[in-house]
Formats: sequence, structure tokens, C-alpha cells
Amino acid sequence: MFKVGLVGFGFMGRMNFDHYVKLNEDGYPITLTAVCDPRIEELKGQKATGNMSTAREVYDLSAYHLYRDLEDMLANEELDAVSLAVPTYLHAEMACSLLERGLHVFCEKPMARHSADARKMVETAKSSGKKLMIGQCLRFWPGYEYLKEVVASGKFGQATEGYFYRGSGAPKDWFLDEKLSGGCIMDMHIHDTDMINYLFGKPEKVSTLGRNVLPGSGYDIASTHYYYKDGKVINSQVDWTLEGDFGFYMGYRVNFEGGSVVFDGSTVKVNPNDAPGFTPEISPEAGYYRELDYFLDAVIHDKPVNVCTPESAAESLEVVEAEMKSADAQGEWVKLA
Ligand SMILES: NC(=O)c1ccc[n+]([C@@H]2O[C@H](COP(=O)([O-])OP(=O)(O)OC[C@H]3O[C@@H](n4cnc5c(N)ncnc54)[C@H](O)[C@@H]3O)[C@@H](O)[C@H]2O)c1
Repeated sequence: MFKVGLVGFGFMGRMNFDHYVKLNEDGYPITLTAVCDPRIEELKGQKATGNMSTAREVYDLSAYHLYRDLEDMLANEELDAVSLAVPTYLHAEMACSLLERGLHVFCEKPMARHSADARKMVETAKSSGKKLMIGQCLRFWPGYEYLKEVVASGKFGQATEGYFYRGSGAPKDWFLDEKLSGGCIMDMHIHDTDMINYLFGKPEKVSTLGRNVLPGSGYDIASTHYYYKDGKVINSQVDWTLEGDFGFYMGYRVNFEGGSVVFDGSTVKVNPNDAPGFTPEISPEAGYYRELDYFLDAVIHDKPVNVCTPESAAESLEVVEAEMKSADAQGEWVKLA
């Protein structure tokens, strides 16, 4: 049995937990054995808050070995892989240390707080020979997988325009310190930047308008244009100051020479220019399940993590950093190397 340890038991830690449990129930030869969080005693009886619901409100952790400290967990457990669901500023150091000790690592997005650290993670994964996968979950989200397939197959010709968006109310705690999270533009908007980069390749340059609303949190609202030589018009917007009953939303509209594809967060609608529109069947599985399924398949069967290479996740972070630079200069175009 392949043994996994989970580090961080906040919102995404629980989301990871849910899906490791489900993967095990679905017959995967893996078992989550240990959970580590400095606040584990307090958290194990508490609800977590996030953009989406986790499977349970309160978790029964009596079947797991619980730790408050990562070193303690590593000294006492024989693990094959670790899932990191800790605040972003801790990702790089923890991931590199785990890889160097011979563990496979699944690490939440954003890959690191700074792209230079993300590059170190790429190098450490290479030198260690262990797998590193970043949880850029949209790459495994059925509504976005469908779009990837339309772009890659060229079934509607070239993309001419694309609009990607997400928004919610503000998160809490460390998220609101830009030094720790990178703010909304790095924490939340990176999902769309990563998707744009994944679909269309690295843009030549970016122009971003950003707005700070909450003290110390960086850009809480942002809108970016991504420049591509072929002239397609690609824009993305994010806002985490949508308070009250707003909740959370995400989606896209992409137009092609031969039709458009629209996703409202739950349903994909395809509108060919010369035929009636239709709703394609997409997998009902959650992207969070599919990404862990893919990661575990890669580590257990020693396959490459092609859908989300560490290099590509680091590149998405570099694009976000260029967007932050552009926002600092009121939308000046910033070129990408
Ligand atoms: N993929 C997604 O859609 C998605 C959604 C939300 C958050 N995230 C990312 O997941 C990561 C975690 O976010 P979250 O929402 O779970 O945050 P959170 O604040 O809810 O949880 C973080 C947890 O890490 C714990 N922690 C802090 N230091 C630790 C340490 N040294 N060792 C072990 N645990 C430690 C904290 O006590 C806390 O319980 C962030 O990088 C965030 O950007 C991804």
C-alpha cells in the first residue's frame, strides 16, 4: 500500500483529505496515514471555510496519526508521498526538503510565493528523481479539459477571443498579507493565468490594471490583457471583494473562427457557427479528485506528470509576476522572456 501524509489541515487540506479517502474507497492502492498541522488539536473539531464545500463539516481523525510538526511526522512515519496544503510562502522550502528526502510531492498552487523559488523546486524535483506536481486544478477540471481539447484539436479553428473570470468575497488570515500569499492576483487569479498559459502558450507581454481595497493585501481586483502575435484578444478578470451573498463564481467564454465555447462554472455550452448549440457531456468528477488521481497514477506507475509539469507551473507564476509589475505601472505592457 502506497502511504501518503497530508501537511496542512485547513480548507485545501480537507479537500485533499476528502479525495484521498475517496480514492482509497474507489480501490486505489493508497492510504492516507498521517495528518500534520500545528493547530491540529483545535482544527480537528472545527469547520473549514473556503470557496467550495468540503465533504464533511467536522472530521473524525481518530483513524489517522496526527502531528503538529512536519519533522516529527517524517521521523515517525514511512511515507511515499506528501500532499502540501500549507500557506503559499511555505511551499518551496517544504517541497524541496521533502523531495531531497526521497518523497514524491503534491503541492497546492500557487507553486511558491516567488518564481525564483519555484525554479528551485523544478531543479530539486529533477535532481531528486521524485515527482513534483502542483495543484493547478483547472487543468483537471472537466469544463476546462473540454476547452483544452477544443483548442488542441482545432475543431473550431483558431481562437479569436477569450474571457476568463473568477471572484468571491475576501479570504481571511494569512491570505490578506501580500507578502505571504501574493494577494488575489497571485492566489486566485493564477488559476486563469495558468489556464491561458496552458491553452495558448506563454503570452509575449501582459498589461494589467489592479486595485488594492483591503489593507496590506496587494491587488484584490485585477484585469489583464495577454498579447499574442496572432492577434487573439485574451482577457482575464479577478475580484475577491465580492461580499454579502455573492459566494463564488468562475467561468470563461472563448470564441473561435468556427464557434464559441462558454462555461458558467457548472455547464459547458458549445455554439458552432453553422449548427445548433449543444451541451457536451463532461465528467461529473471534481477537478480536485482528478488531479490527485493523475498524480498518484504518475507516482505509482512511474509516469511523467505531463499535464502539469513543474516547469509549466513555474512559468505561470512568472506570468503572474509580470502582471503584478504591469499593475504597479498602471497597465504598462510588460514583456515575458
Ligand atoms: N486549488 C485550489 O483551488 C485552492 C483553493 C484554496 C486554497 N488553495 C491553496 O492551498 C494552500 C492552503 O490554502 P488553505 O485555503 O487550505 O489555507 P488555510 O489557512 O485554510 O489552511 C492552511 C493550514 O496550514 C497550516 N499550517 C501552517 N503552517 C504549517 C506548518 N508549518 N506545517 C503544517 N501545517 C501548517 C495552518 O495551521 C492551516 O490549518 C494555499 O497555497 C492556497 O493558495 C488552493
